[in-house]
Amino acid sequence: MRLLDIFPLLLTALCPCLGAAHFRFTNVECKSLDANFVEVKECYLKMVRRNVVGMNSHLVIKYGPPIDKIQFNLAIFRKSNVYRLFMVNHTLDFCYYMRRPEQYPLFYIFHESLMSATNANHTCPYPEKDIYIKKMTFNERAVRELPLPEGEYKLSVSVGAFNAWRLRVNVYGLRG
Ligand SMILES: *[C@@H]1O[C@H](CO)[C@@H](O)[C@H](O)[C@H]1NC(C)=O
Ligand SMILES: *[C@@H]1O[C@H](CO)[C@@H](O)[C@H](O)[C@H]1NC(C)=O
Repeated sequence: MRLLDIFPLLLTALCPCLGAAHFRFTNVECKSLDANFVEVKECYLKMVRRNVVGMNSHLVIKYGPPIDKIQFNLAIFRKSNVYRLFMVNHTLDFCYYMRRPEQYPLFYIFHESLMSATNANHTCPYPEKDIYIKKMTFNERAVRELPLPEGEYKLSVSVGAFNAWRLRVNVYGLRG
């Protein structure tokens, strides 16, 4: 196990965040980094129920063949005047990850929340030309295990295909 993989477990054990009860999305931005590869049709937050905000997105893939080489980077920033890199900036091979997701505890925290909200919920390759995320919220387990103390955060996800970055999604939220 690499340090990065046990880091969230260490933090969970040490940090005063255990009492934290929610993570509420406050903003989302989706940006295509390659308009010939992917178009962002929709990207917005919407109330799912009282006090719970869901994230929604519709991406249109412009690239023809099924996609079977995907890079996935997660960087977590915490705000103190400006957003500073807080704990992690880690890239993984997404196709490998999807075959053995539980091997990556940090990413796995978000796994069910994302998989239950998207049609990209299977292993590679991805032939879909329309990728949806609908009403994504962090489930109870994710909120509980998120190793973040109270504060304002930016979770920045960059997605690459065939070794070039194609998409960036920044999710802003309040941990309380
Ligand atoms: C994250 O790491 C990559 C290199 O692996 C680097 O290019 C990038 O600037 C880093 N991002 C931040 C926010 O530090
Ligand atoms: C994946 O998502 C599709 C479309 O939302 C759904 O029909 C399917 O049952 C899901 N598959 C799994 C394994 O969750």
